[in-house]
Amino acid sequence: MAGAQAMEQPKTENKGPVGMDEIVSLCKRRGFIFQASEIYDGINGFWDYGPLGVLLKNNLRDRWWRDMVLAPPMGPDGSPLQIVGVDSSIIQNPKAWEASGHVAGFNDPMVDCKQTKLRYRQDHLVAVIDKRNNQIFAFVQDVLKDKASLKKLKKQAGTDELEKLEVVPFTAIPASDYGRVIGPDVDKPGTLTEPKQFNLMFKTYVGATASEDDKAYLRPETAQGIFLNYKNVVDNMRVRVPFGIAQVGKAFRNEVTPRNFIYRSREFEQMEMEWFCHPDEAKKWFEFWIDARRQWWKSIGVSSDNIQVRKHEKDELSHYAKAGEGTCDIEYRFPFTAPGFGELEGIAHRCDFDLTQHEKFSGKKMEYFDDSVQPPRRFIPHVIEPAAGLTRGVLALLAEAYTADPARPSQMYLKFNPSIAPIKAAVLPLLNKDGLPEIAEKLYLNLRTQFMTEYDSKGNIGKRYARHDEIGTPFCITVDGDTPKDNAATIRHRDTMKQDRVSLDKIAEFVGKELKG
Ligand code: GAP
Repeated sequence: MAGAQAMEQPKTENKGPVGMDEIVSLCKRRGFIFQASEIYDGINGFWDYGPLGVLLKNNLRDRWWRDMVLAPPMGPDGSPLQIVGVDSSIIQNPKAWEASGHVAGFNDPMVDCKQTKLRYRQDHLVAVIDKRNNQIFAFVQDVLKDKASLKKLKKQAGTDELEKLEVVPFTAIPASDYGRVIGPDVDKPGTLTEPKQFNLMFKTYVGATASEDDKAYLRPETAQGIFLNYKNVVDNMRVRVPFGIAQVGKAFRNEVTPRNFIYRSREFEQMEMEWFCHPDEAKKWFEFWIDARRQWWKSIGVSSDNIQVRKHEKDELSHYAKAGEGTCDIEYRFPFTAPGFGELEGIAHRCDFDLTQHEKFSGKKMEYFDDSVQPPRRFIPHVIEPAAGLTRGVLALLAEAYTADPARPSQMYLKFNPSIAPIKAAVLPLLNKDGLPEIAEKLYLNLRTQFMTEYDSKGNIGKRYARHDEIGTPFCITVDGDTPKDNAATIRHRDTMKQDRVSLDKIAEFVGKELKG
C-alpha cells in the first residue's frame, strides 16, 4: 500500500490571486478538510471533512436540494416545475453498469514511467517538441503557463527561445515516438510505456465467497441510481413528463491522477438531477437548465467573472451524449486553472441512451404513456442532466471566498455568502467575569436554536475576530462591559468590520434578516 501511494503524491499548482497551498493550509489549520488517514501518511485521492468542512458541504448540499427539489426554478412559461428526490444504493446489480456503458467504456488511457513508477493520464499530459532535433518533453500541466515547468523546460531544451519549441497534446504523439520522449519526472528519454486503458470503477465483492461471480462496483456516478428508479417513480408517484428526479450522494472513481486537493478525488459527492422530457422539447430544456444552473451558482456567491459556460467539442463528449444537443460545462476559474477555467458542473443531453439501455438489459419497458395529448402517445423520454460536483463546489466556494486583506491581523478573510457560511454567528464575552459569560451563554443558547452559532471565550478579542475572519463567520457578537447596563451587544460585520449596537432581544431577528439577504 505505502509503495502504491508513493507513486502518486497529491499535487497542487499555484496560479492566480490565491494559491492552492494557501487554501489547503487554511483548510487544515481551521478544521475544514484533512487528508484521509493522515496519521498513516494519508491515502492518495481521499479527504476527510472536519467540523467546519462538513457544515460548509452540508450547507451547499441543502441549498441545492432546496432550490432543485423543494422549490425548483419556474419553467420557461412561468409554471412551477416538478422534481422529486431519491436516495439509491451505492452498490447496484452489476448488470446496471454493463447497460450504462461504464464496464466497457469508463476508461482513461494512461502511461506509466518505468523509472519512477509514476502513472499519468495520457490526456492530461502535454508534449513539447524541440523542432531542432525532434526531442520531445512531456509535462503534466500547461507548461507555458506554469513558471516552474517553463524554467525546467528551458533548462532541459537548453534554450530560452520558445519559438523553437512546439506544444501539442500528448495524445498527438504516436507510441512509436515514445523512445524520444523525456517523461515529466525524469531526465532521460524512453521511460514512458504505451498507453493502456484503465477502468475507473472500484470493484468489490458481495457476499462471503468473493468469487468473480460476486463482483460488484461502487457507483461512479449517482445518475444511474436515478435511471434504475425511473419506472418506480413514474408508476408510484404522481409525476407527469416533463419532471425531474434528483439525488445527492457519494460517487467513486479510481482516478489515475487525483490532484489539486478535492478537485479530482477518488471518493467525492455529486448533486445530480435527471430531467425527463419529450424528445421534441429536449433543446428547449437543455438551454433552460444551462441558464438556470449558471444563475444558481451566482445566487450562492460565485461571481460572474469566475464562471463561464463551455460547449464540449465533439471528441470530448461522453458515450451517452454523442447524439442530441451535446454537453455544456459550467466552469469555474480555480486557482490552479487561472486565468483559465475548470469543470464545476456538466449539463448533458443524454437523449434516451440510459433508459433504452436499461430496457434492453433488464427486459422491462421504459416507455412513458402520455395521455395528455390527442391522440395519446408512447415514447421513451429524453434526459437533460445537470450534474454538479458537491465536493468540487466546496473548493470553488473556498476559492471564491478567500479574500486577502493585509489590514487585518489574519491578513485575509473568507467572504462566504452568509447563507453558506459554516458558522453564522459567534458570541464572544469580552471578559470572563463581571457576569458577561452568563449573559453571553444565554444569548448563545437562544441563537443556536435558529442558526449555527459558536460560543467563543478564549483569547483576546482581536485573536477571536481573526479566527472568525479566517473561517468566514459573518457576525461576531461581543458582550461587553456596557451590556449589563444597556442590555445590548455589538455586532461586528465580517466584510466591512462595521459595528452595530443591537439590543439583546433583537439580535436573533437582526441576524436572521441579514442571513436572508
Ligand atoms: N452523471 C454524469 C457525470 O457523472 P461527470 O462530468 O463525470 O458527469 C459530474 O461528473 C460532476 O462531478 C463534475 O462536473 C464534477 O464537478 C464532479 N466530479 C467528477 N469527477 C470528480 C472527481 N474525481 N472528484 C471530484 N469531483 C468530481
